[in-house]
Parts: sequence; structure tokens; C-alpha cells
Amino acid sequence: MKQEIKKLREFILNAKSLMVLTGAGISKDSGVPTFRGEDGLWRNYDATKLATPYAFRENPKLVWEWYNWRRSIILKAAPNYAHFAIKKLEDMIEDFLLVTQNVDNLHRDAGSKKLVEMHGNIFETLCTGCGHVKFEKKVFREDELPPRCGRCNSLLRPNVVWFTEPIPSEVLKIIFESIDSKEAILVVGTSLFVYPAALLPFIFKERNKKVFEINPEETDISCFADISIRGKAKEVFEEII
Ligand code: OAD
Repeated sequence: MKQEIKKLREFILNAKSLMVLTGAGISKDSGVPTFRGEDGLWRNYDATKLATPYAFRENPKLVWEWYNWRRSIILKAAPNYAHFAIKKLEDMIEDFLLVTQNVDNLHRDAGSKKLVEMHGNIFETLCTGCGHVKFEKKVFREDELPPRCGRCNSLLRPNVVWFTEPIPSEVLKIIFESIDSKEAILVVGTSLFVYPAALLPFIFKERNKKVFEINPEETDISCFADISIRGKAKEVFEEII
């Protein structure tokens, strides 16, 4: 076993507390594409440019086609070993919180309960008129797009956080209050390009808490992380757990 993996395993075995931050990379081995890099393209649109209130106002059907496409991919996906391993960490470590930027529901499918979906959930719709939120694992038919609310007939939008939109304050409160009691953060499969999620490891570092990372690529925290493992989440967790 590689030295770094061994060190992380030892930490986990004795840990009393842990925050885990995940991003799209953890679901890559489940067949869900990441946002950046060659995977991040959809019909030549930049995925990150479709995830904006502006794009939705301009062309709700196009934005919904993209979310429908993403729903169809995610519906075919199942949690992989890394999602289940993180559920196992939740069971092993008393003071635990999973913060995910992913909207794909795969952590929930793996059984995670102590989790915050910082960017929302792709299977939820939010009515732009009456605010009703509905969870439904489905792909809309072409003739249903853009979908409308069954109660007030206003446009439905995906209940996810778009660029330029704030993270709901109650979500931020849970995350930031939880930092105090945590001795370490484990960052898995995120490029750390998107704030405020990207701030979390820096806050841990600043407070002299431990920072661990699993990612096949280097990121901005690799140089100061206490343990930085270059590898795919699924393969690294197969060695750890
Ligand atoms: P990105 O697509 O920016 O980054 C994916 C990260 O996963 C990269 O750092 C890859 O090196 C890494 N990676 C790739 N394969 C991996 C594997 N098998 N195991 C582990 N890591 C792997 O995705 P995020 O950082 O999650 O926001 O993106 C953050 C946010 O930007 C998303 O939540 C989304 C997006 O726009 C919103 O929709 C608001």
C-alpha cells in the first residue's frame, strides 16, 4: 500500500471527526461526466454557461434539454465504491459531515444521511411561481419541455444552484457551524474552481486543522495538504477501506 494511502487509513481508523467535500470526480467512475475538461462539453455548449439564471431566462427549453440529458445519464448510473466508502466513514466516525457539490443524488443512493447537497439536487424541480419543490427521478418527455407546475402553471426550474446565485443561507450555516468541531477535511474529486465550496480546505488549513485530498490531478491545495493522494477515488478507497 502506498505510504500516503496508509497514512490516510491510519487517520481514519482513529478519527473522532471528519468533514468530507466531494465534487464531480467521485461520480466519474459511475459514468457521470465531470464539468471541466473534455467531458464538460455538451453539443458544443460550455456546460458552465448553461447553468445560469440568464441562460434560463433566455432559453428555458435549451437549459431543460441539458438538464434532461444529464438526468438521463445519472438515471443509468449507480453509486460506485467511493460513494459507499464515504457512507462507511459516516458510520465509523462519530462527528461526521459530507458536503457534496454534486447534484446527482448518488451519495443518497449509497445511503449517506449526514450530508449537505451544497448545489442542490438535479431530481428536484422548483416552481418559479409558487416555490413548490418536488423530487422525482425521471426524464421529461420532449413535449413536456420546459415543464410547468401542476399547481400554478408557472415554469419549473431545476432546484440547483446556478452560477451568480447564492448558496441558500441555511445550507451555509450548517456547513460553517460544523467546521468548528472537525479535526480534518477530506477533499475528493473536485477541481476547487467554484466558490464558496473551494474555500473549505483553506479555512481548515488556516485553523490548523488537517487537510487531505484524493484527486488524479493536482489542485490548488495539493501543495499544502497534509496528505495528497494522486489517484481515482474508487481505486484509492478500495485500498483504504
Ligand atoms: P470539475 O469538473 O470542475 O472537476 C472534477 C475534478 O475531478 C477534477 O479535479 C478532476 O481531476 C477530478 N477527477 C476526475 N476523475 C476523477 C476520479 N476518477 N476520481 C477522483 N477525482 C477525479 O467538477 P467540480 O469540482 O465538482 O456547480 O465542479 C464544481 C462545480 O462546478 C459543480 O458543482 C458545478 C460546476 O459548475 C454548479 O452546477 C453550481
